[in-house]
Amino acid sequence: MPRPAVPSASSHVMFDIVQSLPEQIRKGIELARGVDIAPTFPQRVVICGMGGSAISGDLIAACRPVKRLPEILIVRDYHLPDFVGKGDLVVGVSYSGNTEETLSCFREGLERGCTLAGVSSGGALEGLCTQGGYPLMKPPGGLPPRGAVGYLFASLAMLLEAYGALAIHRDLEGLVGYLEDLREALCPAGPKDNDARRLAAFLRDRIPIVYATPTYGAVARRWQTQLNENAKVLAWHGLLPEMDHNELVGWSADDRAHDFAAVFLQSPEEEDAMERRLRITQDLMKGRVPMETLKARGDSLLERIFQLLYLGDFVSVYLAELRGVDPTPVRVIDELKARLARR
Ligand code: PA5
Repeated sequence: MPRPAVPSASSHVMFDIVQSLPEQIRKGIELARGVDIAPTFPQRVVICGMGGSAISGDLIAACRPVKRLPEILIVRDYHLPDFVGKGDLVVGVSYSGNTEETLSCFREGLERGCTLAGVSSGGALEGLCTQGGYPLMKPPGGLPPRGAVGYLFASLAMLLEAYGALAIHRDLEGLVGYLEDLREALCPAGPKDNDARRLAAFLRDRIPIVYATPTYGAVARRWQTQLNENAKVLAWHGLLPEMDHNELVGWSADDRAHDFAAVFLQSPEEEDAMERRLRITQDLMKGRVPMETLKARGDSLLERIFQLLYLGDFVSVYLAELRGVDPTPVRVIDELKARLARR
């Protein structure tokens, strides 16, 4: 099928959303101004969320450069781990504000006397924060949660900075300009043969498996979930070195390997042992599965993480377009939530 010269009506909406990432980050930084936070340095930060909201927590944990700051834990479940209690900061992140797993954790945090805060455009989470007087970062509503990643990430980052759990403000401001330049190169109005279009064509008739080292695990997960939700395809992600101890066998021995495509996200900050491992792994997979290696670019870890993330976001929408699907609605998730809500 020939590539559409202009975005189709349905992909247009999601392209606009993806293209708003730099502005979302800029406005997300602003959201923190005027939110009243008593700076109580937490012993641990526990970020509770699911799907497109939870990824903002993964990204915070991945980008956090200073190791002596409190541990950051991401919880994608109905329950907080037993060890979470007083002295810990529990942040509920739910764009809709109505995700039951996130609300359940938030309520547990309340029962256990944790310090509480929320990031949400409304819903029950906003209600709980307002009622209890807990700080709330409130991005504008009306977007699909995964399309609000800039708002969620930046406002969560600023919230954690206010608690002394992060020092990211300056880097965030620098990131905006970097992403604006990237957008020029990747958007539909930009150069015709950009990397995102090329990768979408590469993935078109294959099942993507995205690999990364733990440093870029959040980005690999984002690639997977954007491909799932925007392009409406099966896709998974995995991590090195773990995949060398199991999945590698499947790649070497399963004749269905050719139906897949392996995308490796490579970071320049990896230690020699990991780089060597990656080279040998790819060598062992050669000829078994079509592969692409994407090297992260940027002057800081934050820029490199967001460069690969932004590329993946664009790939997912170009792939949706190639497949003739509307990237925005996720009807099956809506149906699942509606059925769960019927008690
Ligand atoms: O991207 C999506 O639509 C989903 O992954 C949602 O983020 C997920 O279902 C959780 O909803 P919310 O982000 O509103 O808490």
